[in-house]
Amino acid sequence: MKDKVRFGVFGTFRGLEYIRTILINDKAEVVSILDQDPRRIEQAKAELGDGVKVCRDFDELLDSGIDAVILCNFFHEHAPYAIRALKAGKHVLSETQTAVTLKECVELVEAQEASGCFYALAENYPFFRANMEMRRVYQSGQLGTVVFAEGEYIHPMNAAENAIYNPGPTHWRSLTPCTFYCTHAMAPLMRITDLMPKKVIGKVASGWQYKEGIPGMGGDRFGIEIVEMENGSVFRVGGCGAFGPKGNWYRLGCTRGGIESVRGSNNDVRLVMNPWELTDENRQFGTGCVYTPEMTPEGKKAEGFEHSGADYWVTKTFVDDILAGREPYMNVYRSAALAAIGILGWQSIVQGSKELEIPDFRNKEDREKARLNDLTPYAVDGKAPTLPNSFSVDPYKR
Ligand SMILES: NC(=O)c1ccc[n+]([C@@H]2O[C@H](COP(=O)([O-])OP(=O)(O)OC[C@H]3O[C@@H](n4cnc5c(N)ncnc54)[C@H](O)[C@@H]3O)[C@@H](O)[C@H]2O)c1
Repeated sequence: MKDKVRFGVFGTFRGLEYIRTILINDKAEVVSILDQDPRRIEQAKAELGDGVKVCRDFDELLDSGIDAVILCNFFHEHAPYAIRALKAGKHVLSETQTAVTLKECVELVEAQEASGCFYALAENYPFFRANMEMRRVYQSGQLGTVVFAEGEYIHPMNAAENAIYNPGPTHWRSLTPCTFYCTHAMAPLMRITDLMPKKVIGKVASGWQYKEGIPGMGGDRFGIEIVEMENGSVFRVGGCGAFGPKGNWYRLGCTRGGIESVRGSNNDVRLVMNPWELTDENRQFGTGCVYTPEMTPEGKKAEGFEHSGADYWVTKTFVDDILAGREPYMNVYRSAALAAIGILGWQSIVQGSKELEIPDFRNKEDREKARLNDLTPYAVDGKAPTLPNSFSVDPYKR
């Protein structure tokens, strides 16, 4: 068995943050990079040294002696590259979004199954300290069963930040519907509870009424998804919200009590048991206990990396999984389900907030139905989009 995973990194803007986590991992190395922007290549070379191979295209990256690729290219273009990499026998760690149509989700799932390689979504938010603690507590069983959960990723931008991350009207951040970027809100809840989504209803908070400030994805302020889970519970999540204040928040309401992250912190949690459920073991949480989970030695290594250290865990876990021959938690089925929440959340909005069923991508019948749905808000191969990407015009005048 190999003792090191050799990576090629596609897209070295966000990709640079993952490169930094690999530089301190003695079980992994970055051997090649690809980015069409020479500034970004120079920034990556400054950290990796001149020994790193700079590739001219994706085929050259796949052919550069690597075991795995990290896809940090544009949000709406991941699935076709993931499929090419899997067909070339490379493991794939893909930034969000997994895929942008249901048809792409099916094609990706089938490519992974045929490949014998691992696929994982690079979802970092489940690795916030608060979210890892929420998983530990929920999985211990002391809270009973989740009934209702909420997840939020709110990231309003000022003009300077927007110019860096959203450089113009043809960039994916301008074109992406407000429900699509829902993985930071939803993935932690799926990881904490191990539950899969079954149905979704979308609702848009459009920006047409108020002109001040920078609008969010696609031009709308926020898109929410009401998601029915496989155990009948309901999770309320959303895309990337463009309103104040900035932050992430997660809450689990359960039959015997509840746990939530503390707003403004990605580390602290508040745990409350229903008073009538108290036992000698959990009495200290009875009236509501806010605490910072204990720092583990591995958690100490994560400190200083982006997203409250969560980025460190993404590559560490993926490398450990590959070397152990273990399927990643955020496998292709969970990743496709996450994508489907955003995709169908938007299709629900377009259909007046109709409830839509989320395919189970393990199920062949569900796949055949999903394969027929290639509706997209993006222009593909010179063809016009088949869905709107925004409701930020007065809906009564459209
Ligand atoms: N998980 C997180 O916390 C997090 C944070 C930031 C970004 N992201 C994700 O990372 C991805 C990239 O976002 P970003 O912020 O880096 O901005 P971005 O999408 O503008 O940057 C993409 C980079 O890929 C390069 N690229 C794209 N297509 C290419 C091609 N065909 N050939 C060569 N180079 C190409 C671009 O030049 C650019 O440097 C997105 O999917 C985004 O959602 C995730």
